[in-house]
Amino acid sequence: MRIVLHDTAEAARAFAVARIAATLAAKPDAVLGLATGGTMEPVYEGLIAAHRDGLSFARATTFNLDEYVGLAGDHPQSYRTYMRHHLFDHVDIAAARTHIPRGDIDPAEAAAAFEAALAASGPVDLQLLGLGHNGHIGFNEPSSSLASRTREKTLTRSTREANARFFGAGETPPHSAVTMGIGTILESRAILVLAVGAAKAGAVRGMVEGPVTARCPASALQMHPDVTVALDAGAAAELELIDHYREAEELRRRREADAA
Ligand code: GLP
Repeated sequence: MRIVLHDTAEAARAFAVARIAATLAAKPDAVLGLATGGTMEPVYEGLIAAHRDGLSFARATTFNLDEYVGLAGDHPQSYRTYMRHHLFDHVDIAAARTHIPRGDIDPAEAAAAFEAALAASGPVDLQLLGLGHNGHIGFNEPSSSLASRTREKTLTRSTREANARFFGAGETPPHSAVTMGIGTILESRAILVLAVGAAKAGAVRGMVEGPVTARCPASALQMHPDVTVALDAGAAAELELIDHYREAEELRRRREADAA
């Protein structure tokens, strides 16, 4: 894993935006894996700004990690609505090239359709991931098989509580979601994880330095050959080997400067 430490959340997000934009600029028909959550909102703002500066999404294809079971695509809290609101409606991507599991049909059917679309258009060139407080990626909650495929997963109480802020008064998040599996995520060519804030520090430590375990689903990323983790100081606060990550990045920067 490449661990990139930033002093601020803004800098970590800017790094993520630059990486995604560079992927698309180098390969205009890239397949992008997208994520939702509060962490990603400023990332999409950055991509919209890049689009205004000329970055085109017209030939890109996107696959989102997950969707709530029971919510139709036009439901205000669906992840389809989130993506339209935060990205799709503001860039030149055709709706037909954007894939999100369907929440309004039988979950097994939604999962099978999503895996079939991914098999037809994939693999994902760059998968963007956020991190749940409990170490989940997508909605792969603790106890998820590390080889899992897209399927329905029951959400933990803590995840439903964490996401309740996106729902209106009196509304609660659904009890399950259709999520890309961990095995599915690991088939991406490259993975970019963005985590900011001290509330994510424990999950970040589990992902980077913990044992590979279904207790912390993100730890499965240790098995992938091309993972970059962008962190702010809060999210990096519990890393034991933080000095080593800093030195490794410093060396990388020096080598890049020498090569330039
Ligand atoms: C949700 C999503 C995840 C996301 C996580 C963190 O549960 N399914 O993909 O990474 O929340 O969200 P936030 O960025 O709001 O902390």
